[in-house]
This record gives sequence, structure tokens and C-alpha cells, in this order.
Amino acid sequence: MAENINRRDFLGMTLGGIAAVGVGASLVAMKSSWDPLPSVVSAGFTTIDLSSMQEGEYRQVEYRGTPVYIIKKTVAMKKCEDRDVVVGDINYSVGIQICTHLGCIPSYNTNSAEFHCACHGGKFDVCGKNTFGPPPSPMKIPPFKIDGDKLVLGEEGPEYLKLVGKA
Ligand code: FES
Repeated sequence: MAENINRRDFLGMTLGGIAAVGVGASLVAMKSSWDPLPSVVSAGFTTIDLSSMQEGEYRQVEYRGTPVYIIKKTVAMKKCEDRDVVVGDINYSVGIQICTHLGCIPSYNTNSAEFHCACHGGKFDVCGKNTFGPPPSPMKIPPFKIDGDKLVLGEEGPEYLKLVGKA
């Protein structure tokens, strides 16, 4: 009888151990399938080398599938304390280049230093603020972090949090 109990105990512990290992392996497999792939994580950030930009230069980059503009302002260009990204003593205008009316992509005119939306005639100034037509609000500022002379889109740095009133 004692031998039966010991045998039963041994079988129970063995099966319990196998089940525990199986559950653990399943959890590890589930977690690795939930985690984003490294390529997806790195695709969430866009880094722009600001030192390579000329005064007055407009550049468009892709950030998470959306167009983002960066303008290195000249001394003569309008400054916007509530929107400009300031690196050293240089002001940059940065925004998601999507019209806040119905989502068209406004084009930037370097001569007039303003954005024009061809869909319904909306206009935005060099700071990305709506100045004419149906757009109800300025173009949005993407989350960013300043890293030396680089702008990293996709991270909420202290400068971004200050601009959007979260700091
Ligand atoms: S979508 Fe830009 S003005 Fe309507």
C-alpha cells in the first residue's frame, strides 16, 4: 500500500512538473508573439540630423507613415514661442504635414513661407498655424526629443512636453 502511495505521489509530481514546464513554455511563447519585432520598434523613430540643414530649408520626412515637415528658420522668419523647436539659438518649425480640415497634405511654398492646402484652400503660416480657410486648428506637433543636434521623432522629450503643455 505504502509503495502504491509513493508511486502515485511520484506520478503526480512528475505530471505536475511536466504541466508546469508546459505552461511556462506557453507563456514565454505567448509573450514573444505579443512583443513587437525589433524592426517594428526601431521603425517607430525617425532621426533627423539638423546640422545638415541650411537656413530657410524645408524638409519633409516620413514618420510612422505620415509626412512631417521641418523648416530651419531664418532670422527674418516669424518666430512662434508656443510652437518652435529651439536647438541652440536656432528655431525650427516641426509639424505633421496633414491639414486639420479633412486630412489633405498641404504643400509648402518657400517663397511665401506658408503652407497651402489645395483641397479647400486652407493656409498655414511657417509655424504651422492655420491662417485662412476651413482648417480649424494648427497642424499637430509630433512627439520629439532633441538629442544633441539631432531631432528624434517618436520620443517625448522635455522640449516636446513643454510645447504641448504636459511639463
Ligand atoms: S482638407 Fe485642407 S482645406 Fe480642406
